[in-house]
Amino acid sequence: MTHYLNEHNSAETVNSRMGENTHPRLRQIMQSLVTHLHAFIKDVEPTEEEWGVAIDFLTRTGQICSDARQEFILLSDALGVSMLVDAINHRRPDGATENTVFGPFHVDGAPERKMGDSINLDGRGELCRYEGRVLDLQGNPIPNAYIDVWSDNDEGFYDVQQPDIQPPFNNRGIFRTGADGCYFFLGIKPVSYPIPNDGPVGQMLEKVERHPFRPAHVHFLCGAEGYDRVCTHIFVAGDPYIESDAVFGVKDSLIVDFEPVVEGDIKWKAAFDFVLKPD
Ligand code: BEZ
Ligand code: FE
Repeated sequence: MTHYLNEHNSAETVNSRMGENTHPRLRQIMQSLVTHLHAFIKDVEPTEEEWGVAIDFLTRTGQICSDARQEFILLSDALGVSMLVDAINHRRPDGATENTVFGPFHVDGAPERKMGDSINLDGRGELCRYEGRVLDLQGNPIPNAYIDVWSDNDEGFYDVQQPDIQPPFNNRGIFRTGADGCYFFLGIKPVSYPIPNDGPVGQMLEKVERHPFRPAHVHFLCGAEGYDRVCTHIFVAGDPYIESDAVFGVKDSLIVDFEPVVEGDIKWKAAFDFVLKPD
């Protein structure tokens, strides 16, 4: 058998070059990558010009990355790969709160706030009371659980996207449950917003006639000693983008009815229980 690469043996030829001492997991990953990449090329039979476009796309995806922007993660998000990796790594029993993508806008070190406080520091947007419990799989309250919450403002921007306009930690905060496992705080009803679409990922979406919007959502990290941390969102039921989230983050169990209320300045109420599985 020839060891020179041809159209028929290409993947096997590349894979056979790997050294004996290659780490077994790296060997498995590289073999699969080469096998699937070569199968993809055989499937689409790109022209040299098309392959050049692909290389140029990936080059520009790298070039636009900076400390503040990670276009490769955005590409993974927009291709549904982030949610697939998330699903594989966070399989949970029925009843446990489902995970969804982390996204680029979490900030470490948000202030711990008192239960009932408002995370909305700029007074913009429609106030909403968020409430619920942190529970174990048997329905028992989990005391001393943390809830780290972050959301966009009334125009669809996170504080870190508008450092000159929004106060630091606007629409962010960390809450800790007491003995009853309950939480409640004020925030705003979030609005839908586009993922960054002024780069290669935005161009890709446009070319395949996809919009860049995420349905209105609020992000949460919720955890407690001895329990598996959940990274999730709640989504506003009825949002026009709920079935076409640009990053495929929506799950049925995370869609919440925001109920209109008339309580002073508070216009909405959203109730959601977090159910954690043991570590
Ligand atoms: C977000 O919801 O914050 C987000 C997630 C993925 C890509 C862009 C934004
Ligand atoms: Fe978001």
